[in-house]
Amino acid sequence: MSVHEHPAKVYPVHPQLKDSAVVKGLSEYQAMYEKSLADSDAFWADIAQRIDWFSPWHQVSQCDFSKAQVAWFLGAKLNVAHNCIDRHLKDKADQTAIIWEADDPADTRHISYRELHEEVCRAANALKAHGVQHGDRVCIYLPMIPELAYVMLACARIGAVHSIVFAGFSADALKDRILDCEAKVVVTADEGLRGGKAIGLKAITDQALEQTPCVSRLLVVRRTGAEVNMVAGRDCWYHEEVAKQRPTCPAAWVDAEDPLFILYTSGSTGKPKGVLHTSGGYITYASFTHQYVFDYRPGDIYFCAADIGWITGHSYIIYGPLANGATTIMFESTPLYPDAGRYWDVVERHKVNIFYTAPTAIRALAAEGDAFVKKYDRSSLRVMGTVGEPINPEAWGWYHDVVGDGRCAVVDTWWQTETGGIMITPQPGVNDMKPGSATLPFYGIEPVIVDEACNRQEDVEATGLLCMGRAWPGMARTVYGDHQRYVETYFSRVPGYYFTGDGCRRDKDGCYWITGRVDDVLNVSGHRLGTAEIEASINACDWIAESAVVGCHHDIKGTGIFAFVVLNRDNADHKDDFDAVFKTVREQVTADIGKIARPDHILISTGLPKTRSGKIMRRILRNIAKNEYEDMGNISTLADPSVVALLIEGHRKQFNS
Ligand code: PRX
Repeated sequence: MSVHEHPAKVYPVHPQLKDSAVVKGLSEYQAMYEKSLADSDAFWADIAQRIDWFSPWHQVSQCDFSKAQVAWFLGAKLNVAHNCIDRHLKDKADQTAIIWEADDPADTRHISYRELHEEVCRAANALKAHGVQHGDRVCIYLPMIPELAYVMLACARIGAVHSIVFAGFSADALKDRILDCEAKVVVTADEGLRGGKAIGLKAITDQALEQTPCVSRLLVVRRTGAEVNMVAGRDCWYHEEVAKQRPTCPAAWVDAEDPLFILYTSGSTGKPKGVLHTSGGYITYASFTHQYVFDYRPGDIYFCAADIGWITGHSYIIYGPLANGATTIMFESTPLYPDAGRYWDVVERHKVNIFYTAPTAIRALAAEGDAFVKKYDRSSLRVMGTVGEPINPEAWGWYHDVVGDGRCAVVDTWWQTETGGIMITPQPGVNDMKPGSATLPFYGIEPVIVDEACNRQEDVEATGLLCMGRAWPGMARTVYGDHQRYVETYFSRVPGYYFTGDGCRRDKDGCYWITGRVDDVLNVSGHRLGTAEIEASINACDWIAESAVVGCHHDIKGTGIFAFVVLNRDNADHKDDFDAVFKTVREQVTADIGKIARPDHILISTGLPKTRSGKIMRRILRNIAKNEYEDMGNISTLADPSVVALLIEGHRKQFNS
């Protein structure tokens, strides 16, 4: 059932949260929201006081969407690592900054702010010793171990720019990302460990580095102790390098608009884009949203179960929580290891107050039954968030009723890699919750709905494309090395606005219901993948002439990947060898991108539905993948309309016979 068909059930604000939350009730939200839009610069200047600045700005903002120019806190100087660590030392030096929960549940480490400071300083000095300077790019390909936090904060400390690559990406994907940002130094581990299984990260990195002349140094963290090949003159052990360094390192004063990090994300065309975030606006926004959206209170134990390889981990495991002096959990394992009770075991053992995960994990755990949840004490929980894709009301209900025992606030947070932080979300104690709706805009955020012809929809109730009417401090500033791509992707489809790529509906209460991507981007388990990227990989298989990828329903992942493939004429005899084709395609995609992009289904066909100008009509393929054979709409513009009947016949035979 889609969110539209579902009767909108409303869960009123939990009274126990209303009196104690940071914002108390809807009218307080509304007053603050109106103020945030009425005099935006004054509002943000006030909010930015939560950050330590070495020197002040001379202008709060200079933003012009028509030129795709965005700058905040102009001329100000700060250091993000100082804000996340040093400033807490005077009263929180012995407080735990990071609880590291290793793959093995028996292995937990508490890292205080004092230790974090020392480790980050040593790492910063090690980077400097290997030639990393202000503005240089450092690529981090690490699993969820403390060194990942150390190295990213070390970059921030010396004004270097990190580019973290999710440790599930392949050698080829890693190579592309290293080359695009011309990283000088790469940091990896001997192996990663997830769910009891080792992943040979060093070996993958070695493969990637065969084609990356820009990299002069590879630092290797010892995680499992597995034997790895160290390349003389290039590779160094991380522990040996940091041991040589002093535990202090001055925090460099960087400009508010100096880059903090690049994070690659998929778009509808071409290779992944290097989304660039800068320092002052990003940390202000990450810190502000982390406090207000999760109703974070000093002393809370905060657990975001994302991976730091994605934006959620950047903003809400590291930067937002640490800027707020929180205790944040870094989780190395998977929700199913050693069994489906792992998250709740962590909640009980560490007395977690705030928990943040993705709908795909909620669905996977709900499918395992309630016993795994009920076995553990979850009475410490107060706020539970979700992010990454629309949450179906059934999963929302299970999360709220079973995990949260019906007494916790659930915040369905809508945002993107490019937005830097949460944009549309309920707030605990503020507004009623509607399962499936991200509800209301955050302070300073002006969502705008336009129709296909870019007309702004002024009525409260509206449906269309989701845009933003004004800039906010946390937004991305450019696509690294390709500002034109930034202009075209976000500011051209709807002139004068930031275009999100999402469709949405606004209900009579002004609540937003995100309906999903309107471009050729798939959201698989909350991970963004471009259909073009997957197709390019499939087409690289020797056997395959061409392919078209669309999304399809998947109970756990939300969206699954459905590939329609056409075999080369020379290999047409393989058409009956489905298993071999399926295996080849999945292996190719795993090698080019990573396991997350492997197709769930393939259909071998003799042709694709193309218009006379050669454009694939994906609408038809999406319908077929959904088992909707009847209403194909107008197919008269197809070069060969008979293809449709053949595809339907093939699909019916394979999936519905
Ligand atoms: O389609 C929206 C979906 O995820 C996209 C952004 O993906 P990414 O940049 O990888 O960032 C994910 C984590 C912030 C959006 O364009 N999305 C994200 N959160 C939600 C969502 N869709 C519906 N509801 C959400 N809460």
